[in-house]
Amino acid sequence: MRIKLVIVIASIIVLSCNQDVTPTQGLITQKAMVVSARAEASKIGSDILEQGGNAFDAMFATEMALAVTYPYAGNLGGGGFMIYRLNNGEIGALDYREKAPLAASRDMYLDSLGNVIPDKSTVGAYAVGVPGTIAGIFAAHEKFGSLPIETLLKPVIALAENGFTVTQKQHKRFIKYDSIITAVNGKQTPINKNVSAHTIFKNVALAETLRRISKNGRDEFYKGETADQIVRFLNQKGGIITAEDLALYEAQWRDPIQFTYDNLNIISMSPPSSGGLCLAQIMKMAEPYDVSQYDQNSLEAIQVMVEAEKQAYADRSYYLGDPDFVNIPIDQLLEDNYLKNRMTNFSFEKSTPSNSITYGTLPNYTMEIRETIPYQEHEETTHYSIVDQFGNAIAVTTTLNGAYGSKLYIDNLGFFLNNEMDDFSSKPGVPNVYGLLGGKANAIAPQKRMLSAMTPTIVEKDGELYMVVGTPGGSTIITSVFQTILNVHEFGMTMHDAVNAPRFHHQWLPEEIRMEPNRFDPKLLEQLKAKGYTINEERTPVIGKVDAILVLDNGTLEGGADSRGDDTAIGF
Ligand code: GLY
Repeated sequence: MRIKLVIVIASIIVLSCNQDVTPTQGLITQKAMVVSARAEASKIGSDILEQGGNAFDAMFATEMALAVTYPYAGNLGGGGFMIYRLNNGEIGALDYREKAPLAASRDMYLDSLGNVIPDKSTVGAYAVGVPGTIAGIFAAHEKFGSLPIETLLKPVIALAENGFTVTQKQHKRFIKYDSIITAVNGKQTPINKNVSAHTIFKNVALAETLRRISKNGRDEFYKGETADQIVRFLNQKGGIITAEDLALYEAQWRDPIQFTYDNLNIISMSPPSSGGLCLAQIMKMAEPYDVSQYDQNSLEAIQVMVEAEKQAYADRSYYLGDPDFVNIPIDQLLEDNYLKNRMTNFSFEKSTPSNSITYGTLPNYTMEIRETIPYQEHEETTHYSIVDQFGNAIAVTTTLNGAYGSKLYIDNLGFFLNNEMDDFSSKPGVPNVYGLLGGKANAIAPQKRMLSAMTPTIVEKDGELYMVVGTPGGSTIITSVFQTILNVHEFGMTMHDAVNAPRFHHQWLPEEIRMEPNRFDPKLLEQLKAKGYTINEERTPVIGKVDAILVLDNGTLEGGADSRGDDTAIGF
């Protein structure tokens, strides 16, 4: 811990003194590493690896340890995505995104005049999508895991029972969200403003839930006593998720998005996350401009990056949704000529106004949207990266959507439920909590998965594993991953410095560059304004909390744990 503090202080000094300074490296290990939002979760994951488990075993334990120690985003009541690369080079993607309940409908968040009802898709039982996390970690374990579930959950159950130490940052979040959590639940929950920093937080109810899952397996959550309790609880609170919804839930294996950038091969999440496709579009649009000729976070580099971002987010809003419901023209959207054309109006002279940009036109493409599929078919998020001692790598981003999700806490089970339904477009043209616009491709339908921005990503360099990276941050996830990869690849930064460097974000609409406050040179901000860019330093005080691992030339691993949170790298 003391080592981490020294690194953090050193990096703050480094970053505030700008770029001509000695790089700071993160934790270096010889064989294996876990980087996550909490030291306890990284430690449990790393211990599982030391016991001989592989990355998928460590995933199971780390994900559940985050649900214990980081209820802000770690979860049983949410969902996520995982990208993997085995030591033989095989790659894949797992989608355990939440789904709309069977009783959901396109206009469920609109009033009789067709206006979006405030808060209905963001707080309380009506905002909850059918959770996918338990299905996801069991699916990964079934395909690739090697240690028994009991072994993986034993330390997590002990952690929930014996408790963990509340951090200062966590205490601040408990204060910030106390009133809304109390209002939604009609009483104070165990997560409340009186839980001070440095106290021990125990969650006996969650330990009991995990013990049942350990004994009865995946079906405990979807068909067993836990399922019964979830459905009963949600019904009492006005929710629409039924026993059938839970019983029908399945995680899906998908083909990841794959693209090249210089000598990198980048593997990222496919729809229903927009992450991989948007990242691919942005990077392919930026590639011809060779941003390495400019300084990191210089005027020119930022211009290239935000103009590419605007174009990609405009496409996102129109074309993307759940691939089980809409035909997404992935190949056409990644076609070289198409992306080159998207940047034809780019100029270093001035910003391209967002209102002059729309989604690109694709010849021979007609959107086809299905309202249903047959039954039998089947800011605040968190990310963790794992490389195991066998050379397997996984990138996992998991979420409840908003901070503490819908804020609805099931006392008897010890966890929060998501508010992922807000990631659908409740009404085309009306932004969600992240200010993202969606189109009819992302309209609500029963059993459909809502569009995500989560971007768990693995990078190969010259055919070898190079980087594992991802972050929370809603709409800013994609651009944070983009900047982190460029910081290492184009600007030669260490993994630690790349993760901790100041970040900015543009998502087409609203017409603004969000920039982390007090982290950019005021002169640069003036130069950007002179080019016609609107700067917003208030909207997002922290952009992303990136957790990444870099494979160094000598084969050792460098961790990049974001100092914006309590994120920690642990390994051996
Ligand atoms: N709920 C955030 C995302 O899926 O992008």
